[in-house]
Formats: sequence, C-alpha cells, structure tokens
Amino acid sequence: MLAEIESHPDVMRWNIEPYKGDMTEMYRAFKEAIEKLQVEKDKIFLVGIFEGMVVGFVGVRSKDEGLNRIGEVGISVHPNHWGRGFGTSLLKAAVEKAKAEGFAKLELETIASNKAM
Ligand SMILES: CC(C)(COP(=O)(O)OP(=O)(O)OC[C@H]1O[C@@H](n2cnc3c(N)ncnc32)[C@H](O)[C@@H]1OP(=O)(O)O)[C@@H](O)C(=O)NCCC(=O)NCCS
Repeated sequence: MLAEIESHPDVMRWNIEPYKGDMTEMYRAFKEAIEKLQVEKDKIFLVGIFEGMVVGFVGVRSKDEGLNRIGEVGISVHPNHWGRGFGTSLLKAAVEKAKAEGFAKLELETIASNKAM
C-alpha cells in the first residue's frame, strides 16, 4: 500500500524527486527501507492506519550528525483520504517522536505551486 500511495499521480506530482522505477522495484525499496529501520536509529517512519487500511505515512531522516540535528520530513496521504485530518495527525506524531529522539529542527521541502486541493 505504501508503494501505491507514493506512486499515485496526485502524490507523485508534488514529489521533488519523483520515483522513476517500476512498482516491483518500489515495493522492494520500501521493504528494504523498513527492514533497515531496525538498525538505522536516525530515521523515523510512521504509518497511518484507518479502519485497518494504510492511508498514509511520514518519514524523517537526519540531514546531519551535529548537535543541532536537522530532520528532513516527507509525508504522503492517499488522495482518497485527503482533507480528513490524517496528514495533520501523522505530522503531529512525527514531530513528537522527532523531539523525543533529539531532533532540534525539522524541514520539509515541496514545490511552490503545491496547494491544498
Ligand atoms: C499534504 C498532504 C500530506 C496533506 O494530507 P491531508 O490528510 O489531506 O491533510 P489534512 O486533512 O490533515 O489537512 C491539514 C491542513 O493542511 C491543508 N493542506 C493540505 N494540503 C496542503 C497543501 N498542499 N498546501 C497547503 N495546505 C495544505 C488542508 O487544507 C488543511 O487545512 P485546514 O486544517 O486549515 O483545513 C496530502 O495532501 C498529500 O499526501 N499530498 C501529496 C504529497 C505532498 O504534497 N506531500 C508534502 C510535500 S513532500
């Protein structure tokens, strides 16, 4: 489901570096990234579940290793579930977790024309 969300055209168009591989490769990449989370302690990955379905996810990765750790945020919610507060809930949870894990600042980059739809 993560790969379906990330490859959805309405999500992909706002991605600064859109994924160019095929779905099988994307599934593999998500699987590998999730497995690596066990050892990569500088990353946060949270999944939003509603009525047993994955509706979105948020990730934070460390941009540097200094004292002022900066986290880079990526967030995607499936377009079928936009505007229902899932993005807000995911982001709030990620901010709390990032604070607890010692991130001093979070950044999110997006395309300037990215407006709420
Ligand atoms: C951005 C995104 C995660 C929001 O998810 P969502 O579940 O619809 O968010 P919410 O329902 O919690 O909406 C929260 C608020 O953000 C606003 N909002 C949503 N998308 C927005 C955007 N692109 N620009 C500005 N505001 C936006 C909503 O209008 C809402 O405002 P309100 O609280 O005043 O009503 C979702 O639209 C998405 O996945 N977009 C494609 C990927 C993307 O743009 N990711 C971010 C850049 S990496």
